[in-house]
Amino acid sequence: MKEVLIKAAMAVIALLAAGASAPSRAQQMDGKALFMKNCAACHQASGKGIPGAFPALAGNKFVQGKGADVAAVLLKGRGGMPDFSGSLSDQEIAAILSFVRSNWGNQATPLSEPEVLALRDVLQVDHFSNGQMSNKH
Ligand code: HEC
Repeated sequence: MKEVLIKAAMAVIALLAAGASAPSRAQQMDGKALFMKNCAACHQASGKGIPGAFPALAGNKFVQGKGADVAAVLLKGRGGMPDFSGSLSDQEIAAILSFVRSNWGNQATPLSEPEVLALRDVLQVDHFSNGQMSNKH
């Protein structure tokens, strides 16, 4: 009887532990999947880019610097880097940059959705709305 109770308690603890860690794991997977879909064609799945064409994000000091500066590149575009302000939501940009800033040996703090939203105002970039028709292209 005692053994059954202990087993039941352990099962509950295992369930709780799985539930607690699920959201952060899901967020990380999101960022990775979004990176593969939107960025890897140029910057490569390895984050190493292609020398002379696409800068490496892995081990990149700028990428690990001020989060707002990195997000500004995605919201405004720069040189051959496309502007993602109309195609990625604040949540998606935050997830991608949190992934980029904490993988391939990079060690910088994540970005949050409200931070990206606030930056749109600072940079005077339109807020993201699903299904919005972009008039910039
Ligand atoms: C069409 C190719 C292309 C795609 C797709 C692309 N980039 Fe870029 N990216 C570039 C190029 C080219 C540059 C260099 C821009 C310049 O010379 O100023 C760049 C620069 C950057 C920089 C600045 C690096 C530095 O050292 O200054 C960051 C950060 C970045 N990209 C992140 C991303 C992320 C995240 C995505 C996906 C959402 C992405 N890029 C998608 C081509 C691309």
